[in-house]
Amino acid sequence: MQKWILVAGGAGFIGSHVNAALQRSGYQTVILDNLSSGNPKAILQGTFIKGDIHDSNLLDKIFTTYSIDAVMHFAAFTEVGESVIDPIKYYENNVVATLNLLEAMLRHNVHTFIFSSTAAIFGLPKEHLINETHPCHPINPYGQTKLMVEEILKDFSHAYGLKFCSLRYFNAAGGDPKGEIKNFKTKEANLIPIVLRKIKNLKLNPKAKEAVLIFGTDFPTPDGTGVRDYVHVEDLATAHIAAMEKLFAGSASLQYNLGNGQGFSVREVIAAAIKVTGIEIPAKESPRREGDPAFLVADSKKARLELHWQPKYPSLEIIVMHAWQALNDSKNDGE
Ligand SMILES: NC(=O)c1ccc[n+]([C@@H]2O[C@H](COP(=O)([O-])OP(=O)(O)OC[C@H]3O[C@@H](n4cnc5c(N)ncnc54)[C@H](O)[C@@H]3O)[C@@H](O)[C@H]2O)c1
Repeated sequence: MQKWILVAGGAGFIGSHVNAALQRSGYQTVILDNLSSGNPKAILQGTFIKGDIHDSNLLDKIFTTYSIDAVMHFAAFTEVGESVIDPIKYYENNVVATLNLLEAMLRHNVHTFIFSSTAAIFGLPKEHLINETHPCHPINPYGQTKLMVEEILKDFSHAYGLKFCSLRYFNAAGGDPKGEIKNFKTKEANLIPIVLRKIKNLKLNPKAKEAVLIFGTDFPTPDGTGVRDYVHVEDLATAHIAAMEKLFAGSASLQYNLGNGQGFSVREVIAAAIKVTGIEIPAKESPRREGDPAFLVADSKKARLELHWQPKYPSLEIIVMHAWQALNDSKNDGE
């Protein structure tokens, strides 16, 4: 019998790709999204319900109508800077609403949960490569909210038999290799879409005064600029399915750091973007930003070993190419 998965936040960037991958793998999906940042056009298949995970009545209705086997939870606010300025907004949506979703699951005897966590739970890196044993000291409210949910999940697992997998993504990037899912994001935090958006603007308006800001050129890295881990969104999707299937197969709760296996510097990203798009963009060097580490790269050995997860698209150029395709084909005006 086909299994049903509730994809909370499935109209967003990562959720829409995971939804498509679930469908390809033979799962039925119900997508619940309030469209605060998502777009229904990113949902290729499945039953879309516009609504909020704060809404207990709606959740009860969904769990009663569909025989949900697992929940994948992407619904959250994601901007680190905004979380510093308006932490209530983040604790409310990322923690309180998640608690509401978990309570609804337990009321309806749904016990399998895949959680979108983040590298931000670790705070400033103590090692070159961050594995699952790295201490967790988030330096902003966004990271705190995700760590709090991870802690809640451990307690719920112990007390109520919830089985969860926390997946800590580093920088999700790339796009649909087939070009079917467009990028509808209107605000970007990751360097790749930031650079590509500026290039897109230059393409549309060659006289625009666009430049990419490089914050810090004196880091102890090979070219002096910060090194980050960009993991392809399609590779994240396969990790989600592998983690869920491991839980279905009887595994205890899990946590994995998901990264590309290698980091890329700011200069490397800019060079790849210029190569892929064929459009030159100037770079402007600025001083380091407070709290920006030299390296932020995942050690994903555990996921590779236990989930047999092997990123299919580790190449920076391919990641940038797919991101460009998704950005370029969409109007990106929040339509
Ligand atoms: N993008 C990254 O690099 C990255 C890295 C680490 C972790 N994450 C986490 O992955 C998840 C997905 O991120 P994304 O980049 O796809 O973001 P996104 O903003 O594109 O997707 C989030 C989706 O959740 C929906 N949503 C938000 N609050 C909701 C609510 N209360 N009820 C219903 N729907 C709601 C939004 O409309 C949106 O469609 C988030 O939880 C984020 O914290 C993302």
